[in-house]
Amino acid sequence: LDNGLARTPPMGWLSWQRYRCNTDCVQYPDDCISEKLYMRMADLLVSEGYRDLGYKYVNIDDCWMSRNRSKDGSLQPDPVRFPNGIKSLANYVHLKGLKLGIYEDFGTKTCGGYPGSKFYLQQDAETFAAWGIDMVKLDGCYTDVSDMDEGYPIMGFYLNQTGRPMLYSCSWPAYIKQKDFALYQKIAKYCNIWRNYNDIGDSWDDVSGIIEYYGKDGGNFSKVAGPGNFNDPDMIILGDYGLSYDQQRVQMAMWAIMASPLLMSNNLETVKPESKALLQNRRIIAINQDPLGIQGTRIVKMNGLEIWVKPLAPKGKSIAFAFLNLNHGGGPSKVSYPLNKLGAMSPQGYNVTDGFTGKLIGTYKSKDKVTVMVNPTGIFLGHTPLH
Ligand code: GLA
Repeated sequence: LDNGLARTPPMGWLSWQRYRCNTDCVQYPDDCISEKLYMRMADLLVSEGYRDLGYKYVNIDDCWMSRNRSKDGSLQPDPVRFPNGIKSLANYVHLKGLKLGIYEDFGTKTCGGYPGSKFYLQQDAETFAAWGIDMVKLDGCYTDVSDMDEGYPIMGFYLNQTGRPMLYSCSWPAYIKQKDFALYQKIAKYCNIWRNYNDIGDSWDDVSGIIEYYGKDGGNFSKVAGPGNFNDPDMIILGDYGLSYDQQRVQMAMWAIMASPLLMSNNLETVKPESKALLQNRRIIAINQDPLGIQGTRIVKMNGLEIWVKPLAPKGKSIAFAFLNLNHGGGPSKVSYPLNKLGAMSPQGYNVTDGFTGKLIGTYKSKDKVTVMVNPTGIFLGHTPLH
């Protein structure tokens, strides 16, 4: 969507994976969906240094609403959990140099059963603008999938008509079984980011399943990614419970290669130092935020090993590449592959560095092979900086 937003993949924090629909603030005062949770995360994005690296969005997900609309039909937050209202939360977040995202659903109800936007699209767009919302995730539960084709663009039109720039996150393709290139082109025209696959949970199975879906690239959805429009493979789960250290490196590096939104869903208060270092790795963030916005693709899949490439700016001069080891058994595997087959063709040759550390791996001619050891369920991320 060419509305000036998401020129690079958006970065921030989103409550769903970690906090779900916990509305019990008596038993779980720190974990329930409430203004306190979002204020605390906003504080931590700043104090822990995330904001200054680009993590700017604080995103509310499902279960923030009151069960009913107000008399005039407008949405309202749960009065107990959001006693000061969303506008005041937006002010709080904005004063910290952050942006506020919110969640709604295109159907009659949200996936969690709260009031949906059907029949209220324009009114809800205006409410969000009046509150100072910066990003809208529009889910697709409780509706006819055949209505989405018209409905998602219409909501985009109303959001735009408010005059307030709001990044538009669509769940539209996630609800459509057969997705072809024409559909993705349409979605890219009307949405800034869009979910196209299953919800992530806190596990390696989820992360590797998503990577496989993006590797298959059905309908060539990688081709529609670029400034203003990005595929969204779902939240970053580093700092949660489910991934080993190597698996966390995989998620971070692959979301960078895939030019994916980096929306963390974790408790920023308890993220372990090694996870925080990965989340805050400037080199990885720079690959993710590369201005060309090209989504990397899988070029080899063999014996549990995969090779992925993402061209970086300036075009034709630099790449990031991943050697991914999806095998669970044994020790590290040797992976060896020539640079020219990765698309690095310059006759001058290349310095190849480790994308995480910047450490020089070696200097190679284009036809030379880069050979490294890759841990089980682990990754080597290569980078060819300009010299
Ligand atoms: C769907 C979405 C999730 C989350 C939940 C909320 O499952 O895909 O990301 O927003 O709804 O109910």
